[in-house]
Amino acid sequence: MCGIVGYIGYREAYPIIIKGLKRLEYRGYDSAGIMLYNGKNLQIAKTKGKVSDLESKSSDIAQSAATIGMGHTRWATHGVPNDINSHPHVSNSGNLVIIHNGIIENYEPLKKELLNRGYTFSSDTDTEVLINLIEEVKKNEKLKLGKAVQVALNQVVGAYAICVFDKENPDEIVVARLGSPLAIGVGENEFFIASDASPFIEYTSNAIYLEDEEMAIVRLHKPLKIRKIKDDSLVDPYIQELQMNLEQIEKGGYDHFMLKEIYEQPNVIKDTYRGRLHANSGIVQMAGVEDNLEKFLHAQRILIVACGTSWHAGLVAEYIIEEFTRIPVEVEYASEFRYRNPIINPNDVVIAISQSGETADTLAAIKLAKEKGAFVFGVCNVVGSSISRETHAGAYTHAGPEIGVASTKAFTTQITVLTMIALRLAKAKGTLSNSDFYRYLQELEVIPEKVHEALESNEKAKEIAAKFKDAPNCLYLGRGYNFPVALEGALKLKEISYIHAEGYPAAEMKHGPIALIDEQMPVVVIAPKQGHYDKVVSNIQEIKSRSGKIIAVVTKGDVQVKELADHVIEIPETSDALSPLITTIPLQLLSYHIAVMRGCNVDQPRNLAKSVTVE
Ligand code: F6R
Repeated sequence: MCGIVGYIGYREAYPIIIKGLKRLEYRGYDSAGIMLYNGKNLQIAKTKGKVSDLESKSSDIAQSAATIGMGHTRWATHGVPNDINSHPHVSNSGNLVIIHNGIIENYEPLKKELLNRGYTFSSDTDTEVLINLIEEVKKNEKLKLGKAVQVALNQVVGAYAICVFDKENPDEIVVARLGSPLAIGVGENEFFIASDASPFIEYTSNAIYLEDEEMAIVRLHKPLKIRKIKDDSLVDPYIQELQMNLEQIEKGGYDHFMLKEIYEQPNVIKDTYRGRLHANSGIVQMAGVEDNLEKFLHAQRILIVACGTSWHAGLVAEYIIEEFTRIPVEVEYASEFRYRNPIINPNDVVIAISQSGETADTLAAIKLAKEKGAFVFGVCNVVGSSISRETHAGAYTHAGPEIGVASTKAFTTQITVLTMIALRLAKAKGTLSNSDFYRYLQELEVIPEKVHEALESNEKAKEIAAKFKDAPNCLYLGRGYNFPVALEGALKLKEISYIHAEGYPAAEMKHGPIALIDEQMPVVVIAPKQGHYDKVVSNIQEIKSRSGKIIAVVTKGDVQVKELADHVIEIPETSDALSPLITTIPLQLLSYHIAVMRGCNVDQPRNLAKSVTVE
């Protein structure tokens, strides 16, 4: 987590860094800091709080003519969020400055050793240890900064994306990465450094993404040299043309990124299947699947690994893939999978799902599966991300940048890709009848219109939100394909409104959670016409007879549930298997409005970060 930005060139660095940090706040937002070098002095400001707090605190350096500098927005790992623990950190000599995204796991023995050598520390961070280790190496071995960084990093265990600056050699920034992302924007006589390309998108569309264990010395008027940290070998820089544009990373008139992203879903689902799905011709194809079709077809089992919302998309995929292809599917939290010595066979196919493509646990699960010989397929949104590079093959979701911390469009586009995979495999295996196959293709093609229609529930969701915004708890129930949607609805509510919420398979309620139901308890029930409608109706009756307040998501024209529920939200009719793409929409809207009404920071909920690059 944490966002880093660096600049070296001919423009004033301050505004570039501040704007860049604001775009990276999704990565962490509990403290922020900036360092500029004006040719004579280091100018440093840092503070607990958001980048806007940093702006207020750094007004004295806002007009600085410095054309080199770096900034940081933090998600605390070592040391509470406060001014002192904020980055940048300066070495004991006052010459070296660092910003760091990641964790130095062996910082304690390193710190002990440095304390023995007379170093002092003002913060509780692992990062301050790293910058002093670099200083010690530089001083002791009389090395230039780049070499000292390299030697120090070879003593470090953990993850990092770092920028290091040396006041004694002020025309360069040394950067390195292991496990945390780092992109270098290459402009005319200027370089940008950032955790992703969003801070420099309006200046250049040329970017180099450092790979793990690579470092570079970024210097003006000199060709960029990238080296392997371990063996010092040179790597050819690969410049990528960026696909992102400025409009995609702005709010476009919406109050929040989350709302914008909810409303983008009809379009981005279309982007997800564009060129891959041609319903009338019976074509559903993705290059990554076509190239590896045999592996999928011979899979004795598909293992899905993911975290959070992506894990929920994996659960939906379990139901769809098993139903369509009859291939057994298991879905695992990446964080559990990686540490429990799982059984992975060479003829297992592992699908890793991740919006950011940077989630540390998912990345580690992929590495483990590869070590055990499995074929690993990635479903990622961020192009060029670590997971997309670490997997053998994959399919992008093409949802565009998701900036709101709560995932919305990532979820529906992941389900779209996974449904297409299931349909492609079903076609090859003959496990779906021809008519069902065509029916699903056709239905998937019109899903964007149905999502659009489901978005019309916005006003209703707002009305219901006003009634339940002060509830301390909330239950979400669904069955079959909509059980994972219940989990996802509960996650959305708790993460942005801080209301405690739980998702359950509706029938499980009577095995415990029913004890929670009284007249204070709102219960959101996903009850579309297709699927286990009658069973869900019975569950609703059980809640009703215990005075629970029922908010039901129903198919347009429903009569039975309408009579029982306190509030209903109508959605268009879809087949059971594709219904999660629709039923999830009103739940996103409901949590959005509740969070807004409670005065919560919807796009940046407390304690969270968009990209979880620590385990
Ligand atoms: C919830 C949310 C998180 C992420 C999880 C995995 O709204 O956004 O639960 O889904 O951190 O992130 P990715 O998909 O980037 O691997």
